[in-house]
Amino acid sequence: MEKRIQTMAEHWFIRPLIICFLMMTMSSQVRGSDWTNIITPKTAISNGAVCLDGSPATYYFRNGSGDGIDNWLIYLEGGGWCTSNKGCLERTKIYTGTSTLKPKRMYFTDILSEDQTINPDFYNWNRVFVAYCDSSSYLGDVEANTYPNRRGARIFDSVMEDLLDKGMKNAKNAILSGGSAGGLGTILHCDGFRSLIPKASRVKCLSDAGFFIHAKNLHGAQERERFFANMIAYHGATKHLPASCTTKMNANLCIFPENIVKDIQTPLFFLESAFDGHQLREHYFSNDPTWTNCISNLKVCTPTQLQTMKDFRTALIKTLREVANSPSTGILVHSCYRHGHFMDQGWCTTSPALRKKINQAIADWYFDRRSFQEIDTHTESPRNCTKLT
Ligand SMILES: *[C@@H]1O[C@H](CO)[C@@H](O)[C@H](O)[C@H]1NC(C)=O
Ligand SMILES: *[C@@H]1O[C@H](CO)[C@@H](O)[C@H](O)[C@H]1NC(C)=O
Repeated sequence: MEKRIQTMAEHWFIRPLIICFLMMTMSSQVRGSDWTNIITPKTAISNGAVCLDGSPATYYFRNGSGDGIDNWLIYLEGGGWCTSNKGCLERTKIYTGTSTLKPKRMYFTDILSEDQTINPDFYNWNRVFVAYCDSSSYLGDVEANTYPNRRGARIFDSVMEDLLDKGMKNAKNAILSGGSAGGLGTILHCDGFRSLIPKASRVKCLSDAGFFIHAKNLHGAQERERFFANMIAYHGATKHLPASCTTKMNANLCIFPENIVKDIQTPLFFLESAFDGHQLREHYFSNDPTWTNCISNLKVCTPTQLQTMKDFRTALIKTLREVANSPSTGILVHSCYRHGHFMDQGWCTTSPALRKKINQAIADWYFDRRSFQEIDTHTESPRNCTKLT
């Protein structure tokens, strides 16, 4: 399973990136000012904030300006997990395990864009893209020197220290966000992030495709449980799981939203596809070749496979409704089959209409213009909303 996730990570994260890059450089929408240089936090090496391969943590940063000068938007990049020496060693040679393979410059899109027409609410905020290279959702914390290194939580801390120094300590408004494994990291670091800036007036967290459910009554539940238990054990992540949960039950279950979201104090927004591509691809029937055909081409799915997808959707929506029942929680669940909506995972493949809806929803929720909880309850089958223009 780990091997598969590895290969898929390359396929689903790196290839779209290259295609995206080619398309962007051909597109008239590309604005020179959205290219952003890579930075290493000052304390990365001294604090042991290193990637799997021992290279230092990195991030990309844009200064805020005008009335955005004291506002901060942080985005935690995702890219799956590794759970053992074998898988993590392989990852030291790819994008998700080393900063040596991160691009020197990153093109900021969506909620990170400098373009007011694309990003009307956050374009002049301080914007940060944290590069993912620990493969533990920023939770790893093994003291001893190991190879591969397991220091995801230190990466989070070191970057935050740098940002506080750069002015985040005076933040008035702030958002911690992230996609996929970074969206899960966002959920788990949300209250910790809040406590870093106690004087800020409005702090919220936005998890994009980070709601990885246990769904204990659905096929593959034991596999999902084992996978995350291995991840937690390998990376020494238990101490970064919420105590409100780990004191109540088996700590390995405290990575699933079912068991942790209710106790998070800081307002959260969940942006999800009801047919999350990653969860369906990786966490269900991952060894069945007919399933692999279906999830890469919805047209060939059998009625039974479609039923599996519907069951997943029902479980995801039920879980969200149960745990995210405070009016301060934002929810947007749509029915486009996909995984992730921003930056590398989103820019090329999210239709302009969906993008606009997402931006509006996030801004309305963040600024308390209205509470926002919208779940597509009508569409019971996955829609292919891929639009490459
Ligand atoms: C960002 O802001 C800091 C502090 O105001 C300033 O020193 C720095 O030159 C700015 N950097 C850029 C690239 O504008
Ligand atoms: C969605 O449609 C596109 C374009 O027609 C196609 O290339 C892609 O394979 C489809 N994806 C799925 C999962 O069916």
